Amino acid sequence: MIQFLLNQELRSEHALDPNLTVLEYLREHLGKPGTKEGCASGDCGACTVVVAELHHDDSDHAQLRYRSLNSCLTFVASLHGKQLISVEDLKHQGQLHSVQQAMVECHGSQCGFCTPGFVMSLFALQKNDDTADPHKAHEALAGNLCRCTGYRPILTAAKQACCNPAPDQFDRGEAATIARLKAIAPTETGELNSGDKRCLVPLTVADLADLYGSHPEARLLAGGTDLALEVTQLHRSLPVMIYVGNIAELKRIEHFDDRLEIGAAVPLSDCYDVLKAQYPDFGELLQRFASLQIRNQGTLGGNIGNASPIGDSPPLLIALGAQLLLRKGDTTRLLALEDYFIDYRVTARQDSEFIEKIIVPRASDQQTFRAYKVSKRLDDDISAVCAAFNLRLDNGVILDARIAFGGMAAIPKRASTCEQVLKGATWNLATVERACQALAQDFTPLSDFRASKEYRLLSAQNLLRKYFIELQTPHIETRVTAYV
Ligand SMILES: Cc1cc2nc3c(=O)[nH]c(=O)nc-3n(C[C@H](O)[C@H](O)[C@H](O)COP(=O)(O)OP(=O)(O)OC[C@H]3O[C@@H](n4cnc5c(N)ncnc54)[C@H](O)[C@@H]3O)c2cc1C
Ligand code: FES
Ligand code: FES
Repeated sequence: MIQFLLNQELRSEHALDPNLTVLEYLREHLGKPGTKEGCASGDCGACTVVVAELHHDDSDHAQLRYRSLNSCLTFVASLHGKQLISVEDLKHQGQLHSVQQAMVECHGSQCGFCTPGFVMSLFALQKNDDTADPHKAHEALAGNLCRCTGYRPILTAAKQACCNPAPDQFDRGEAATIARLKAIAPTETGELNSGDKRCLVPLTVADLADLYGSHPEARLLAGGTDLALEVTQLHRSLPVMIYVGNIAELKRIEHFDDRLEIGAAVPLSDCYDVLKAQYPDFGELLQRFASLQIRNQGTLGGNIGNASPIGDSPPLLIALGAQLLLRKGDTTRLLALEDYFIDYRVTARQDSEFIEKIIVPRASDQQTFRAYKVSKRLDDDISAVCAAFNLRLDNGVILDARIAFGGMAAIPKRASTCEQVLKGATWNLATVERACQALAQDFTPLSDFRASKEYRLLSAQNLLRKYFIELQTPHIETRVTAYV
């Protein structure tokens, strides 16, 4: 069984198809049609809902953390122990919520498909930021598409709604909601099943290892932003899933003198601060990773686990020398991330083995790490090419080079010939030009709808030139924000 709050109503579910998305659950099972389906692929934001979870601050004080999610990519089992808020829940005692009122007053409400999603993104924004910061408003709304180009009044509504809002029914009822969530906090593995389909929801790494050992055929479900597409876009049915998002050990970030250890199920939006503090370009890249809804849901472990050749974090992590802690049963092993990817969607992971942690070295004094994402849009778009450069320089001589690319091969991959040209050489334009030629030996990219092979190779070479110029003139601000 799984339990969650639907606003304030306790729902207990056990006999549901685990392939059911929260969007379908709301609309078809509960008859709540306010949440809309636009694309069913995480692109448009029409299906945005807000999920609140208990969060303990440094002094172990429980608070609610509100996050916007795409309900079209969220399976119902992942609601276990949380509060689901949909657009129907905002109006209270006959009064529109202040976010809805702002949309009306600022003429932000346009078509009925996108407006509920905008309202829910604004609601999450208001809960997380009451400073009316325009950058935060832009970030919160970048995953909501409006085809009638009416963004300006919506941004005005964001400003009005987030400028010192009066407490709403959610603030007034916060203590009661926290008490109710504590009362339903899972204490044992949850399960949702229908016929022979099931989704298991373990609470510890040891339980996950046991369950995965007995169900090697299971698909691990983290944020679902990739996995759910198999159901919503490819119309497959996933018979056995194990949801890893309720395992506290996998949601921790641990700080050591020389490294960060990031649990595989930490949402990307929670990785932002720590990675940005070490590597500002990593922070910039994460801001350009999908949309806020996807980053609230999607995890670093899932971004590596899906082994996509155009996943954004792997090239950066490879250039930084990151390692994976893999677990199977009671046995763990460390593996350099670059050795994890073997061929297109083929990894070194064994049956029943999973990623427990991603281990990222801390920045050194001679830090030269830079990363660049080339995509057709600035926000909410997947890379055509993603590049990460990390050199160790001493008095203008290159002592070591780690360079990795996404979008240039069947896997995220190091540019080994290019690195060999650089190692030991003087860091000047002539060396860079030789290294650019070597990139043509390292990669034979493909042409697809994102970019032609010629464009990809030329972009990769130009990004290396750009990196050189930036290191020579550090004040130049042309970093990850490169886009076509
Ligand atoms: C609209 C949209 C935009 C996107 N934009 C980007 C983008 O800009 N950049 C980018 O890189 N990606 C992007 N993605 C892809 C996706 O969001 C990311 O890859 C995300 O990090 C996946 O994480 P998840 O937790 O949702 O993974 P899930 O979908 O839950 O899982 C993905 C895969 O990893 C496996 N897995 C999960 N956890 C583990 C584990 N602990 N051990 C082993 N395997 C595991 C799963 O079984 C599955 O095969 C986008 C997706 C969408 C829908
Ligand atoms: S329906 Fe478009 S993002 Fe979910
Ligand atoms: S609000 Fe729906 S297209 Fe603009």
